[in-house]
Amino acid sequence: MSVRAGVVVPAAGAGRRMGGVDKAFLELAGEPVLACTLRPFLDEPRVVAIVVALDPATARHPPHWLAQLDDRVIIVAGGAERGDSVRNALQALPDDLDIIAVHDAARPLLTSTLVSRVIDYAATGASVAAALLVTDTIHEAAPDGTILRTPDRTGLWAAQTPQAFPASVLRRAHHEAALAGVEATDDAALVTRFGATVHIIEGERTNLKLTVSTDVIIAEALIRSRE
Ligand code: CTP
Ligand code: MG
Repeated sequence: MSVRAGVVVPAAGAGRRMGGVDKAFLELAGEPVLACTLRPFLDEPRVVAIVVALDPATARHPPHWLAQLDDRVIIVAGGAERGDSVRNALQALPDDLDIIAVHDAARPLLTSTLVSRVIDYAATGASVAAALLVTDTIHEAAPDGTILRTPDRTGLWAAQTPQAFPASVLRRAHHEAALAGVEATDDAALVTRFGATVHIIEGERTNLKLTVSTDVIIAEALIRSRE
């Protein structure tokens, strides 16, 4: 029997680094970011449920296109921090899942290929996170901006999503993090901290996260280059 995968899509952030815009509903080449983000998951037959955590006001009155997009899509209200949004979404997923993937709404350029690779890997019972080998030299600086150290970048990876975990492993990590009062912006870091091994697979350069306004220009150019 095929694995049953659930997906959590945190989309309840305030977009502060973009000047306070709801990034999930920005138009990207004429389509909402969230629609682009959800498509590769909706195209994946092993995905049986997708929970999207939205800003509470939007969750109460989601746009029509989203409310009637697909029966597998469930909308919940997010929380103050990304971890809260993921936890709220986890509670709304069905209990009988084999694996749960987490993917940021703000990464609308991921491909079906990457979704399949991550689910294939997690279907073996392992935890997996997409990431990219760091190519820039990284400085660690003091609060005054002076360089303290320039660590060797060998072995440094920049985290991406999607990430996927055996369902029980992700649920346990979030439960224990909540008990311990630990906040994490990354689920793979949380799972690692609460006792499970997470494997990295090479992500995609184009799977960028919309963080500042320039990222929107780059993302639109990439989308048009695919058309
Ligand atoms: N996110 C969320 N709930 C929060 C904070 C973030 O669901 N309380 C989501 C965002 O919507 C986004 C993803 O987590 O899809 C990654 O977060 P980030 O890129 O940091 O987005 P924002 O938090 O919205 O942006 P900023 O940090 O600049 O305010
Ligand atoms: Mg944030």
